[in-house]
Amino acid sequence: MSKSTAKMHINQQEFEFPIYEGTYGAPVIDVTSIGKQGFYTFDPGFLGTAACESKITFIDGAKGILLYRGYPIEQLAEQTDFMDVAHCLFFGDLPTTSEKATFINEINTLMPVKDELHSVLDGFQTTGHPIAMQISLLGAEASYYHEAIDINKSDDRVRAAKMLIAKIPTITAMCFQHSQGHKPIQPESGLSYAENFMHMMFSKDGKDVELNQTLVKAIDRIFTLHADHEQNASTSTVRLAGSTGTDPFAAVAAGIAALWGPAHGGANESCLNMLREIASVDKIPEYIARAKDKADPFRLMGFGHRVYKNYDPRATIMRKTCHEVLNEKGCHDDSLFKVAMELERIALEDEYFVEKKLYPNVDFYSGITLNALGIPSNLFTSMFVLARTTGWISHWHEMLSRDDFRISRPRQMYSGAATRDVLPITER
Ligand code: SDX
Repeated sequence: MSKSTAKMHINQQEFEFPIYEGTYGAPVIDVTSIGKQGFYTFDPGFLGTAACESKITFIDGAKGILLYRGYPIEQLAEQTDFMDVAHCLFFGDLPTTSEKATFINEINTLMPVKDELHSVLDGFQTTGHPIAMQISLLGAEASYYHEAIDINKSDDRVRAAKMLIAKIPTITAMCFQHSQGHKPIQPESGLSYAENFMHMMFSKDGKDVELNQTLVKAIDRIFTLHADHEQNASTSTVRLAGSTGTDPFAAVAAGIAALWGPAHGGANESCLNMLREIASVDKIPEYIARAKDKADPFRLMGFGHRVYKNYDPRATIMRKTCHEVLNEKGCHDDSLFKVAMELERIALEDEYFVEKKLYPNVDFYSGITLNALGIPSNLFTSMFVLARTTGWISHWHEMLSRDDFRISRPRQMYSGAATRDVLPITER
């Protein structure tokens, strides 16, 4: 793959490293051998580091491009559904009609969870955060299936992936029902992935929820938009955990923990809370000023991105979906949406945001949309987990399918104490 090399001159020595070019994106300098030369590269936060080679997702932050297996997110959001996308991300392409029918049937069959899982949930207070519940339930799933999965066998990895994709909606809806003090609702055969999720979330007292197809399509599209995003913090966590050979359910639990943070997946919940706090258009300038004030830790939630220095293409689709849901629900004068639209307009004209290339990201409109769909804000990140599980497990499988994969183990620059002797406590 190497077409050229990078030369480095250190202490009168010259080191040469191969440069590789992918299909798109920045060429990479392979510094694997630099450790043998007695040096490490130093890149806290991995701002300039490609941690792996992947064929799953490509992001062009400058142009606001997002491709899943080469397909533009805009086309996938309009022309496919989440089962198409999940198949595409995991197996490498959109399914044929028969492949899709088989895949949907397999996923539907695997959606129910063991009764014991309900007992695990009973250990949580109904006020507990659903993400904490999801982490524990994934650990419980690992305890049920660990012995049956050999991660070195591709067929076992495929089976584990289908189980995770199938059971995460059931687990997520269980957490919601528990927080409402209700018993879980079982999935039903014959419903689509998004329909089943809404059924398990909103059916109650023996009465099935009325499945409004505009709202079902919105939920399905939200799953597509959140399904994968190359080497973000939570996906990198799943890859790193998976590189030790750990159980796939446990690796996904680690990814959930990483996604929970407000700088990452927790931003949708924080963004809605921020819009509620702003509450009216005339308070926007005060919050814009706070976001620009270095002394103030406040950041405009739903704005900015490590990679996108242009509009997040998912935010554009999310805004359209938000409109559709608000119209369908008759929330034409949704004050939060008005605040969000005005906040976006003002921020995009403000030189601070323009200079720092801070644009709305996927989380900016997802909170308002999920809120209008009747999803409580503390479940927003759990919805993100539901969708991203497909991306996580696709990366996990891709990594383990390589014959050159090895355990991830970064080094460091040590700046602590030089060697010194322990003194008896009476002399310390
Ligand atoms: C997701 O990685 C992914 O792909 C993530 C994700 C995915 O699908 O997996 O896309 C999902 O996590 C989206 C991001 C959701 N997070 C938020 O919306 C939280 C608010 N955003 C910020 O916390 C921030 O923008 C980050 C964390 C998203 C990105 O942080 P970076 O890349 O480390 O950028 P930075 O902190 O270095 O910021 C650069 C400058 C700084 O100012 P200076 O130090 O240069 O003066 O921009 C400022 C920051 O202070 N800045 C903001 C800001 N985001 C960055 N100022 C005000 N409000 C903001 N939101």
